[in-house]
Amino acid sequence: MDNFASLRGKTALVTGAGGGIGAACAKELVTAGATVMLTDINVAACKQLSDALNESGATTSYSAQDVTSEEDWARVIDETLAKCAGLDVLVNNAGIYVGGTLDSNTLADVRRVNQTNVESVFLGMKYAALAMKPGGAAGKGGSIINLSSVAGLIGVPGHTAYGASKGAVRLYTKHAAVEFARLGYGIRVNSIHPGLIDTDMGRLVFEDFVKVGMAPDLAAAEAAVLEMIPMATLGTVEDIARMTRFLASAEAAYCTGAEFVVDGGMTAT
Ligand SMILES: NC(=O)c1ccc[n+]([C@@H]2O[C@H](COP(=O)([O-])OP(=O)(O)OC[C@H]3O[C@@H](n4cnc5c(N)ncnc54)[C@H](O)[C@@H]3O)[C@@H](O)[C@H]2O)c1
Repeated sequence: MDNFASLRGKTALVTGAGGGIGAACAKELVTAGATVMLTDINVAACKQLSDALNESGATTSYSAQDVTSEEDWARVIDETLAKCAGLDVLVNNAGIYVGGTLDSNTLADVRRVNQTNVESVFLGMKYAALAMKPGGAAGKGGSIINLSSVAGLIGVPGHTAYGASKGAVRLYTKHAAVEFARLGYGIRVNSIHPGLIDTDMGRLVFEDFVKVGMAPDLAAAEAAVLEMIPMATLGTVEDIARMTRFLASAEAAYCTGAEFVVDGGMTAT
């Protein structure tokens, strides 16, 4: 099992690695043997995790990055190449949740969620591909993993703005995957679709169920969400991190342009 989905000799960049799913992905990729660059707007959290991982023998680095900034992407890719000696894996994880009903959302809400969840994925894939493709500064191909959501697959009340942004991530993934394969870049691109995962963002969904009138209080909101999940439990950050490790590895060599659902059966009903 130790050699399954090994990432020894590989370098990975994980965005939004300061907490939640991104921090768990960084830990799992380190466990698989990768050198990892952790980035987030919350650079203090990245530093803390990077220092702790390095104290236990890992090789990681960290940097401040706002994923909506093109300048930050260009700089962080250069830093990864310089400090981590390559780029084989990009996990486009950083994202935000904007709730509310469609008729209560403002245009500013919609632009904000698209900027953070969709434009970041475009910028990340672009700058990673420039480095990973043949002739690029890393030049060995690689694996790009985009965090979408079950809300990018099905309709969920209170999720129109967020869900539409995650639907865009799903199709950005497929178009990039097909294009990169046809162009011989050696870069696989896949999306992960988590169900409800127990993180700060996951808990915002309960609050939003109350705000949009789908539940009278937080306890009822949690019960209503659990009712939607056949396995009747929230997912953990490790559930998503293990899927990320698989997609990053050679075990997923024939997977590209595909959507990997990790949702306790939520979208199977
Ligand atoms: N938690 C869930 O239930 C769930 C479900 C489906 C999909 N997802 C997706 O998984 C990803 C991670 O979610 P999470 O639950 O860990 O969220 P989280 O809110 O717990 O953590 C997100 C991290 O991203 C960082 N971030 C936010 N905006 C940023 C920006 N502009 N630039 C750089 N970093 C930024 C935050 O500082 C934070 O550390 C997101 O893309 C989210 O949409 C989460």
